[in-house]
This record gives sequence, structure tokens and C-alpha cells, in this order.
Amino acid sequence: MKLIHSAAELQEQLDYERARGHKIGFVPTMGALHEGHISLVDVAKESCDVVVVSVFVNPLQFGPKEDFDKYPRTLQGDAELLEQHEVQYLFAPGVADIYPQSPEITQRAGVVGSTFEGASRPGHFDGMLTVVNRLMQIVSPDVVVFGEKDAQQVFIVRKLIGARFKDCRLVEAPTLRDSNGLALSSRNRFLSPSDLAEASSIYRHLNEMRTELETGAKVSLTVEKHAKGIEAIPNAKLEYLAVIDPQIFRPVDDNYRGAAKIIVAAKVGEVRLIDNLNVKAISA
Ligand code: PAF
Repeated sequence: MKLIHSAAELQEQLDYERARGHKIGFVPTMGALHEGHISLVDVAKESCDVVVVSVFVNPLQFGPKEDFDKYPRTLQGDAELLEQHEVQYLFAPGVADIYPQSPEITQRAGVVGSTFEGASRPGHFDGMLTVVNRLMQIVSPDVVVFGEKDAQQVFIVRKLIGARFKDCRLVEAPTLRDSNGLALSSRNRFLSPSDLAEASSIYRHLNEMRTELETGAKVSLTVEKHAKGIEAIPNAKLEYLAVIDPQIFRPVDDNYRGAAKIIVAAKVGEVRLIDNLNVKAISA
């Protein structure tokens, strides 16, 4: 595996790969890699000859009171893990490679960008979209892989790819969970053992909600009941729990019928967690 810090050097290497007819798969990350990220790499490998993983903790997508400074930075361990999984390129740029002038928002996530995650984290999606746009310009992949866990991020990025990177296919990889159902996340390492157990009960609520919604329960009552249930988890503070129409990423009402997604964000102890679950069909 080649560890590359400069955008120009990566582009040179990838031009060489393309000239050999190789298809390029790209997995953008902020590092602190775990098996969840490796599952994204595996998805990229299914249709590509060469996989590029980027590790860049993007200052633009963190609010002033968020965990940018505390965000885990484990480049050496990340490199070892990717090497074991036969990734060809690890791109770990510095801030100046990504933002040659200075870090500035160049992409706007629109209305959806200020709801749910965007309401809790103002400006987050503009920052995320700005870096994804820049990384996509540098890597110019055939396939880019994002994790389904960040459902709103995928929804927003899909629009960018459709509008500006038409030759690239976005693939959404399923969420990887631990044995208790907790979605794998780089931030889980900050959960205490007791918070870890509490955190996984959020997933139990999502599962129960799915079953209830698929068997005729009213959306509003289901959300109300399980919001109370999550609030009752020791050390948990619910930020939002909603059932949305995945086509528009907006909450559905009690008359809605069809496929839906349950989305949740909650703080457990000091750690902010998000998760989601697909509902096949809300039926009467
Ligand atoms: O999902 C992430 O890890 C980040 O938001 C991303 C897509 C790498 C952009 O910084």
C-alpha cells in the first residue's frame, strides 16, 4: 500500500492506474478506522481494481463546540489495518492540500442540510459537502462508497454526485453492528462499558418501531412511545427520533404509506450517536 500525503502525487498515481485500465474505488473517511470502514472497502473492491481510502479530519464539518480536537487520530493503526486488507492507496492529506487558500465553504447542502443532523450541528453538512466535493475532484473515482449509517449524509452527497460527478457511481454500504446491535462508529471507543450496553438498547427500540410500523401502528404514536423509551435509558439524551420518507428526507405523517426510514440521534454519556433503520412499508 502507498501512503500519500499530496494531492498532486495521488493524481499522478491514479492517472497511471487509469492508463492501465484499472477502475478506481474511493472510500472517504476521517480515520480511526474499524471493521465498519473495512466493510466499505470490501464493497469498493467488488467492482474496482484499485481502492483509495482517504483519512482527513475535516475542520469545516465541526462546529465550534464540537469534538474536532478530540476526534481520534490514529493514522499508523489505520495504515496497518488498510495494508492487511490490501488497499492500494491511503491518502492522508494535510489541510493545505485540501484547502490551498484557506478552509472555506464552497458547497451548500440546501434545505435538507439544516434539518435533523443539520439542526443539531449547524453548518455540518456544508462543511462535509465541501470536503467531499474537493476529494472527489482529486480522486475522480469510478465508484465512491458511503455507509448507510450516515443516512442524511448519503442523501445529500447523492445529489452532489448526480449533479457534478455523473461518471461516478455512489454505492451505499449496509451498517455493520456489534453483537448487541450497536452500529460501529469511530466515536464508540469513547463509550464507557455501561454506556456501551445502554447505547445498544437504542437499536432495540428501532427494531421494535420497525415491527410496529410494518404491522399497522400509527406513526405518531410509535414515535412518541419510543422517544419516551429512549429518554428513559440511563445516561441517554434523545436529540431526535423520526420516521421519514427516504425520497425527500422529510418526516411522514399518519396517512403515509410505503417505504420509510426511522432515524435517531442521541447522546449517551458524552458520546453523540446516530443510527437508522429501513421500514419496508408502512401499512394501515
Ligand atoms: O463520514 C465521514 O467520515 C465524513 O463525513 C466524510 C464523508 C469522510 C467527509 O469528511
